[in-house]
Amino acid sequence: MISKKTKTNKIWGERMRSKPSYLLTKINASINIDKKLYVQDIKGSIAHCKMLVKQKIIKKDMSNKIIKGLKRIEKEIQQKKFNFSEFNEDIHLNIEKRLFEIVGNDAGFLHIARSRNDQVTTDFKLWITETSEILRIEIKNLIKAILKLAEKNKNIIMPGFTHLKNAQPVLFSHHLLAYVEMFKRDFKKFKNVINNASENPLGSVALAGTSFNIDRNFTSKLLNFTKPTDNSIDGVSDRDYALEFLFVASLCSMHLSRLAEEIVLWNSDVINMIEIKDKMLTGSSVMPQKKNPDGAELIRGKTGAIYGNLNSLLITMKGLPLSYFKDMQEDKKPVFETYDILKLNLKIAKELIENISPNKNNMKNFANDGFTTATDFADYLVKKGLSFRDAHKKSAKLVNVAEKRNMTLDQLSFKDIKKIDPLIQKDVLKILKIENSINSKKSYGGTSLQNVVKMLKKLKKEFK
Ligand code: ARG
Repeated sequence: MISKKTKTNKIWGERMRSKPSYLLTKINASINIDKKLYVQDIKGSIAHCKMLVKQKIIKKDMSNKIIKGLKRIEKEIQQKKFNFSEFNEDIHLNIEKRLFEIVGNDAGFLHIARSRNDQVTTDFKLWITETSEILRIEIKNLIKAILKLAEKNKNIIMPGFTHLKNAQPVLFSHHLLAYVEMFKRDFKKFKNVINNASENPLGSVALAGTSFNIDRNFTSKLLNFTKPTDNSIDGVSDRDYALEFLFVASLCSMHLSRLAEEIVLWNSDVINMIEIKDKMLTGSSVMPQKKNPDGAELIRGKTGAIYGNLNSLLITMKGLPLSYFKDMQEDKKPVFETYDILKLNLKIAKELIENISPNKNNMKNFANDGFTTATDFADYLVKKGLSFRDAHKKSAKLVNVAEKRNMTLDQLSFKDIKKIDPLIQKDVLKILKIENSINSKKSYGGTSLQNVVKMLKKLKKEFK
């Protein structure tokens, strides 16, 4: 809480003739959000301090005191004994103020050759690197759950849709593996986020670098960065890594949202293709019969906030001249919120996948509705010598016959089918069956069981 009686800021207030207004202090404070960065901030300060000693800029005993103080602060925060204050603006000043209380004036030497401008972006890069790795673990766990469901239901046939109209029969497992491909790309993209955040901005200082003989390679090594950033102005101005994190999170959320939408659709009483276990369903306060898939709906719903966060930071950064502006302090909230939502969404999606099972008979019957082997019939005619365009027309005719008779294609008699073209032989009857349709799709990446088994084996090895 900010008291209206607070004095001027001790760290930067020397030139001020009056204390900052209550409202300015309020709008300026980011501590309630950026306190999440305390681990990275202390790590960065310790690395900076060690570098200052190595470069003989400060004395070893002073650095020992500072580092001991920083570690004590870390413990205090972990144990919730730290008193965060909005008056001290942000995580950097909150820690620095406390360091003064613990070690006295020596604390003032830590900020040599450093600015909050390079400090904050260093902390943020470290945070994004660590959390991207955690998200990759969650994505991997989800992939493993999908693989398990696919393996268990390898042979189940479902209607493949385009335009939400029955298109061609596919294996349920093949459909599930499509999601594995999406999440595999997310898994890889979060690695790219990490790689693209691998340059160390620490030592860019306010914007211009420093006259002190600092060793940026040394802090890079201590903080696990690959190298220092090459331009001090870019070092403090760049937030591309945060935007990339938000973009990849948005993509991953889009994939989750599509999966969630399918779960909602499949679970509807009209479609009724899957069963969801009660532990993943909620009831209605008015309709006693209801069991609703709220978890899936919320995955879909929360995706809105994630897209909003990407937009929010893109707009914050748009048109900002170089180098640092306080606008950039608004970068953390969207990133932190996105991380929390995405992590939860990934966990819930995994739990949902673990608690659904296909309604095999419904799926199979639907797969035969809507004349889904009409393309197989056209392909059959092509193999007998027709062009695909002629075959397409003849197959449409066969569909008309079946529609008139209110039959599925595989219920038609050979006599009826034969009327379509003289080249047709008895082997056509097999062609109109959905099982045959699936197993004929042996092209690489197709839905045949043979392919799916191979892919499952490959993916299981990749995500052990
Ligand atoms: N808390 C700030 C941020 O998150 C860092 C402070 C830089 N402040 C400044 N006046 N240059 O961006």
